[in-house]
Amino acid sequence: MTEQIYKGLAGVVADHTAVSKVNPESNSLLYRGYPVQELAAELSFEEVALLLWNGELPSAAEKEEFRGFERSHRALDPRVRAAIDLLPLDCHPMDVGRTAVSVLGANHPLSEDSSPEAELIKAKELFAAFPAVVAYDQRRRRELELVEPREDLDYSQNFLWMTFGEEAPEEVVDAFRVSMVLYAEHSFNASTFTARVVTSTLADLHSAVTAAIGALKGPLHGGANEAVMHTFEEIGIDPAETREAAAARAKAWMEQALAEKRKVMGFGHRVYKSGDSRVPTMKQALDAMVEYYGRGELMGLYDGLEAAMGEAKNILPNLDYPAGPTYHLMGFDTEMFTPLFIAARITGWTAHIAEQRANNALIRPLSAYNGPDERHL
Ligand code: ACO
Repeated sequence: MTEQIYKGLAGVVADHTAVSKVNPESNSLLYRGYPVQELAAELSFEEVALLLWNGELPSAAEKEEFRGFERSHRALDPRVRAAIDLLPLDCHPMDVGRTAVSVLGANHPLSEDSSPEAELIKAKELFAAFPAVVAYDQRRRRELELVEPREDLDYSQNFLWMTFGEEAPEEVVDAFRVSMVLYAEHSFNASTFTARVVTSTLADLHSAVTAAIGALKGPLHGGANEAVMHTFEEIGIDPAETREAAAARAKAWMEQALAEKRKVMGFGHRVYKSGDSRVPTMKQALDAMVEYYGRGELMGLYDGLEAAMGEAKNILPNLDYPAGPTYHLMGFDTEMFTPLFIAARITGWTAHIAEQRANNALIRPLSAYNGPDERHL
């Protein structure tokens, strides 16, 4: 009898989750029941994090308590800094993020304590600590000094402050906050599933997050936001060009790429086949950045690629497509885009780790052997 193979686990329902609901039929995404668009419009990223961890919107007292906690755990741990300084400047920033989480885990006094209370503390600390890793890594690559966090700024303001050493304008802070909310959670995507697989063996939280970062790095998953920008760079970015001229060049590039059977990152999705529910909200944030920085020609590239992909293959953009140019306009180095995704997804990963632990079963599928028949020496 031949076994049924679910290549890539496509279509397989592996477990229940109450963290988020992805509905491809209605193109909707709910975090703990709330539409992500509403959360992105109304809440801070800190509030969304609390919602993902606790299952309910935070009370005023819970918000206040987390405000103090988060702001007092932002400084770059000197042991993490020392480890980062050992890494070459040309290694990928995702390697830096992965290493930093590993170092934090190795030094954490609660590392092997998997009680819900300890797990939540570790999740919150990681949430607070990770921005300094990204900010410091971008700065050291630019030969700039570390910028200390500021307790008078919220998460998004402080992230931008530590990265660029100046207070970001409100418009930029808001677009950044929206991106964090949209990237926070997306059910059993590859990196979250990885975190759950590691957790299912009863390994510690930092091991699960470190493994998730490895899964996120690839261009078929989180690495796509960086790859989108490389596509724009390959086509050529010319701020002096008109939007129409940029669109025409992008269209021609896409037609050629598809004729060569290239995969163009930032398009397509395993679950959404008629549009990623997060794209319209992220596109609004991108439009706001394009207007703020006066860079219409980038939207020419954006529109040209999207139109040509739609016409040729009817494949639509995913969240990484508008997120890439948004981070570019904010001033992040292209290789930093996927570490920004880590910063956001730490919330979803750790919510799933808690859920997996609370109702665990070792994740261990079967395989259909197709090697040589039994043979002997
Ligand atoms: N560019 C060109 N062709 C594509 C693309 C793309 N981005 N996406 C899908 N296709 C084509 C495939 O070549 C394939 O065509 P074929 O049937 O003629 O061979 C068909 O569409 C189906 O594609 P699969 O890769 O088999 O579909 P799957 O569901 O496995 O893929 C995936 C989903 C991996 C996301 C795919 O669309 C892809 O590789 N996209 C680019 C990477 C990307 O943007 N990833 C980000 C995901 S979202 C996120 O992480 C926030």
